[in-house]
Amino acid sequence: MKILLLGTNGQLGWELRQSCPRDVVIEVCDYPGVDFTRVSSIGQCLKNAIQDVPVDCIINTAAYTAVDRAEQEKEAAYKINHEAVAVLAEFARENGIHLVHISTDFVFNGRQYKPYNPGDIPDPESIYGKSKLAGEKAVKKILGNRALIIRTAWLYSAHGNNFVKTMLRLMAEKNCLNVIDEQVGTPTWAYGLAQAVWVCVQKKNSGTYHWTDAGVASWYDFAVAIQEEALAAGLLSKNIPIQPIPASLYPTPAKRPYYGVLDKRELWEKTGIKPIHWRSQLRTMLKELM
Ligand SMILES: NC(=O)c1ccc[n+]([C@@H]2O[C@H](COP(=O)([O-])OP(=O)(O)OC[C@H]3O[C@@H](n4cnc5c(N)ncnc54)[C@H](OP(=O)(O)O)[C@@H]3O)[C@@H](O)[C@H]2O)c1
Repeated sequence: MKILLLGTNGQLGWELRQSCPRDVVIEVCDYPGVDFTRVSSIGQCLKNAIQDVPVDCIINTAAYTAVDRAEQEKEAAYKINHEAVAVLAEFARENGIHLVHISTDFVFNGRQYKPYNPGDIPDPESIYGKSKLAGEKAVKKILGNRALIIRTAWLYSAHGNNFVKTMLRLMAEKNCLNVIDEQVGTPTWAYGLAQAVWVCVQKKNSGTYHWTDAGVASWYDFAVAIQEEALAAGLLSKNIPIQPIPASLYPTPAKRPYYGVLDKRELWEKTGIKPIHWRSQLRTMLKELM
């Protein structure tokens, strides 16, 4: 099986390469070779990328992911997360290629009190969330149910920038930390998501699904767990106090969902992958940093 992978240098793209099954060959089509902000050039870049090697599936992990900056850079966010995705979907349709596209819990407003099902009505409140929803809609309009959209949340990896690595740095530098305890979701190791994506690619699953690790946490819970696990692993040498604070004490340009827990049972069942609790995944990931 041959795959065209977009976004190989991102967290998920990197983990997809690390976990690539033996019978899959990955063709890379990456920035700056393909620049999602230059929408009119994407089709030709994709054509060039597959002209010698026809592919069975395109996996798109490339995205504008700077949630706060998106509030100021609306045009760039929409180009990358919406317009470029529409071109990608059109290319997949014209060439009969299966498309796997990654989306986010930010498509929901976070005011629900129980995990979001894939069928729940999106209502994004940030530019990032709105642009990602526009991308989802374009995929659905162009490919109907012939594409796979996986929404995920709170991704981290040993590769790239993320909450885990920021916390480890701050915990080493500072004497105390304040972390928001009002927003809850599920920390998700990108490696686990990558494994799920590969199963879906091989089964040619389509439709809209959710995937995160198992369990629920606030950012505060996550930070406490990072410190405890890192101390146990010898990645940190001192234990600092971590103070839970309300979101109002840490204002950000983008509005974040208070409740971003996704119901992923359908995809767990479809892939047959046993759900792993986020804390156990965190412990495993930290070993990569040792
Ligand atoms: N991170 C999270 O917490 C999170 C949560 C929910 C959903 N998601 C979704 O999950 C997916 C993967 O996220 P991630 O954390 O792996 O993202 P990431 O680490 O930020 O990587 C994004 C990728 O997109 C590429 N990219 C950025 N601008 C581009 C452009 N103009 N043209 C072409 N490629 C461009 C980047 O290339 P360079 O590295 O070369 O810049 C990078 O490879 C995304 O769809 C994201 O929306 C992420």
